[in-house]
Amino acid sequence: MSALSGKRILLGISGGIAAYKTPELVRRLRDAGATVRVVMTQAATAFITPLTLQATSANPVHTALLDHAAEAGMGHIELSRWADAVLVAPATADLMARLAVGMADDLLTTLCLCLPTRTLLCLAPAMNHVMWAAGATVANRDTLLTRGIHLFGPTHGKQACGETGLGRMEEPIQLVAALERLFVPKLFAGQQFLITAGPTREAIDPVRFLSNRSSGKMGYAIAAAASALGAEVTLVSGPTNLPTPQGASRINVVSAKEMRDAVLDVVNDCRVFIACAAVADYRPVATAPQKIKKKGEQAMTLVLERTEDILATVSGLPRRPFVVGFAAETENLETNALDKLQGKGLDMVVANWVGGDLGFESDDNALQVYWAEGQQILPRASKLDLAYALLEIIANRLPANGSPQLITH
Ligand SMILES: Cc1cc2nc3c(=O)[nH]c(=O)nc-3n(C[C@H](O)[C@H](O)[C@H](O)COP(=O)(O)O)c2cc1C
Repeated sequence: MSALSGKRILLGISGGIAAYKTPELVRRLRDAGATVRVVMTQAATAFITPLTLQATSANPVHTALLDHAAEAGMGHIELSRWADAVLVAPATADLMARLAVGMADDLLTTLCLCLPTRTLLCLAPAMNHVMWAAGATVANRDTLLTRGIHLFGPTHGKQACGETGLGRMEEPIQLVAALERLFVPKLFAGQQFLITAGPTREAIDPVRFLSNRSSGKMGYAIAAAASALGAEVTLVSGPTNLPTPQGASRINVVSAKEMRDAVLDVVNDCRVFIACAAVADYRPVATAPQKIKKKGEQAMTLVLERTEDILATVSGLPRRPFVVGFAAETENLETNALDKLQGKGLDMVVANWVGGDLGFESDDNALQVYWAEGQQILPRASKLDLAYALLEIIANRLPANGSPQLITH
């Protein structure tokens, strides 16, 4: 379950081009279980209609401060009391300036000024990169930071004006994750987690490789959830197109050998190791230095050798973390998972069916978690929800003290 479930989020929209992303933001917040109310500045209504936000939020949209009817309904004070968090996205340079000097010249700035101290105020700036770097904006941002606002972004990239720079609003999916992080109890505060994700690629020649269908989504979801729960996450990732989860530090690798080396470099101080990557079991014995050309044969033989078994290596370390392995299976799920648990001396194994519309590449999954004395089934859900559920099981199984564990073989 998302940490936003049951939370009341007041979305403030100011007049920037990124306002067109807010219906998706509202949908994602509601999918996470939040109730959303929207307040728009006058300028924002030139970029997107209140009707669109009313339809997506399923609540009336508020735009005016001096509106008799609105004040008789849920007025500015009630709105500011109602919210668990206010997220202004996009936050324009103008809105930041008005907040920084404490103006209350429209509904959004007025309710931000009368927020109870318990209410989180988060801004997702979006503007041309020159505006973002301007001395006045930098000073306003710093003033707001010293007052305890939470700043989400901006990010670097192509801007609506056609220029490239720092000033793009974070994508809705990232904003929801950032907001979620603020509400999650810090179960793993300060603990080091090492997580592998994605496929590996084993080169055949300079243009071809052996790989698999892993998208990395499950491992990235675990990294995002662990980080939100306060863990210091190192994510060792095979090739994927996924953005680095907020708060995680990412090491990119390509082959099984590189993944092993990266894992062994950092595993020493780790409390928990979660091996979610789909590491190739075999690689070509030799990588051809040039592209292999066809020579008229109808068949060719590729000779393969075993790759490093990263999970078994970490599990066999004299001083090792709590080790969680993943088993992706197309048959005999439980038997294969239990074999892996015992054979490699793991603390826990997480098994999932692959094939059909589950597992690789999908946004959903279903997991069966096994450890020496028990098991738990996590039914089909989003990979992020499963990540939180899995981390809760891990938290309950972690030895109370000792980081990392001292295991004698
Ligand atoms: C087409 C267009 C796009 C704009 N995009 C942005 C933007 O992305 N960020 C920004 O800070 N201002 C942007 N502005 C300027 C704001 O709309 C302007 O400063 C306005 O007064 C902001 O009002 P508000 O902060 O009350 O919403 C844009 C203006 C126009 C005409």
